[in-house]
Amino acid sequence: MISDALTKALNGQIASEFTASNHYLAIAAYFALGSLDGWADFFHRQSEEERGHGLKILQFLIDNDAEIHLPAVAEARTDFADALEAVCSALTSERKVSGQFDALAALATENRDYRSLQFLQWFISEQVEEEATMGKLVDLVKSGVNLFEAQQHLPSAEDAEVDAENE
Ligand code: FEO
Repeated sequence: MISDALTKALNGQIASEFTASNHYLAIAAYFALGSLDGWADFFHRQSEEERGHGLKILQFLIDNDAEIHLPAVAEARTDFADALEAVCSALTSERKVSGQFDALAALATENRDYRSLQFLQWFISEQVEEEATMGKLVDLVKSGVNLFEAQQHLPSAEDAEVDAENE
């Protein structure tokens, strides 16, 4: 069993993960509309990754026989002023999610919910990596590089697979 507090908070976190997934899908659409298919593919993979995070939390709740409340997901905007605004919004989103996982870990500690606390460790580590990845993209766009040429510098699907194997 996990605590009622974490059951409620983890259901809420599923909403955040699916919202992040929708947000990245919107960024992918923004880049695809500008024929920047490499950028679109990267954010599409990120969207799938965020959906996977939501599903991982859902499975944890199921494994603990906890109540499930699947959330509604808010609309995501696609009308970014430029690529910099789009990637900055991704970094802001990752920082916000990192804060949410820190708060969840604090709540688990407070409630002596050690299995939730242990479960959350993976997400806390993952956030370090995701913030770093988005931070690099912000720096890349800020450098003024040609966005078409920059596509060759984006993390590839193979990079993502290697990362997943190392987790
Ligand atoms: Fe699943 Fe990067 O938040």
